[in-house]
Amino acid sequence: MLTDAYGRGVTDLRVSVTKRCNFGCVYCHDEGLGPVARPRARHEEEITIAEVERLAAVAREFGIRSVKFTGGEPLVRQDLESLVSATVPRIPDVSLTTNGSMLAARAEPLRDAGLKRVNVSMDSIDPEQFRSIRGGALAPVLRGIRAALRAGLTPVKVNMVVFRPTLDNLPALIDYVGGTEGLKLQLIQFMPELVPRRDWAVDIGSVRRWLEENASRVRVREMHHRRVYRFDRAEVELVDPVDNPEFCSNCHRIRVTHRGELKGCLNRDDDLVPTRGLDDEGLRDAFRRVITRRVPYYGGFVTHLVPLPQVGTGGRASPVDRSASAPAGPGRS
Ligand code: 5AD
Ligand code: SF4
Repeated sequence: MLTDAYGRGVTDLRVSVTKRCNFGCVYCHDEGLGPVARPRARHEEEITIAEVERLAAVAREFGIRSVKFTGGEPLVRQDLESLVSATVPRIPDVSLTTNGSMLAARAEPLRDAGLKRVNVSMDSIDPEQFRSIRGGALAPVLRGIRAALRAGLTPVKVNMVVFRPTLDNLPALIDYVGGTEGLKLQLIQFMPELVPRRDWAVDIGSVRRWLEENASRVRVREMHHRRVYRFDRAEVELVDPVDNPEFCSNCHRIRVTHRGELKGCLNRDDDLVPTRGLDDEGLRDAFRRVITRRVPYYGGFVTHLVPLPQVGTGGRASPVDRSASAPAGPGRS
């Protein structure tokens, strides 16, 4: 296994297969890679099936156990089934994060290609509010969720971004998830540093307290030490990375951008390691290199980095003050 300087073994790979998307969520952080241009046109730069296959093969050598495909919206790619079937022989645990709008027709073919589970973003069960937040229609997403359940892509995780406009939806979403076998609710703390609306952020501590007071049981998951709350029939997980060093110290994930660069952290684009055109040994080195530069972002360790050559990402200012003096040493909490 590849382990970084902070003792974090890397076990998961998250692959963005496109930056295109047919929705336009007001909170979209674009997986940290800038605005989505020309969503419907095929992008020449998008990662290929052969590239995914090779990345998965090397990831397997390094003991990576799961792959999650994401976007943009991964289902805008008509060859997503082939990307899945190229991955599964190397890493069988393959899942998908999608906006769900095109899932109904693809759930079965994706299952047949070897996909195991899906996460579907759904911040509101009110069609009008849904449209105002997501820039798209709710009904196809609900159909997509039902199709995923029928196809056995379970548990289907319903993602809800928790921010001002959605805070009041929490009880309704807990009811929705509790009313259908096979669904789980994942509450995702709005990441305000990635979109220019800091005022949308809510006090996640009060959300956590609300969950603790209203849930019948609480347990802590190994992954990121996330808390899981049991309601009557609903299971609710809180993903609260913002300013949370514990979250980062339990992060075992690296990323691949839609251009095939390795990326050590969602919140950074100064650590991209290109992999295009590398031979197998070069690819192994690229994995080692991205892991060398991994730091627990919300631990305040992003400091004094010499940026790697950029591949046209435009760069983005880090919310962490890089002029601050470096901490005494790696935190191993
Ligand atoms: N903050 C938190 N989560 C976000 N997502 C997208 N943008 C943000 C943000 N600013 C999440 C949504 C979506 C997933 C792909 O990323 O939950 O489902
Ligand atoms: Fe961004 Fe996902 Fe919403 Fe598309 S569906 S706009 S990629 S958050």
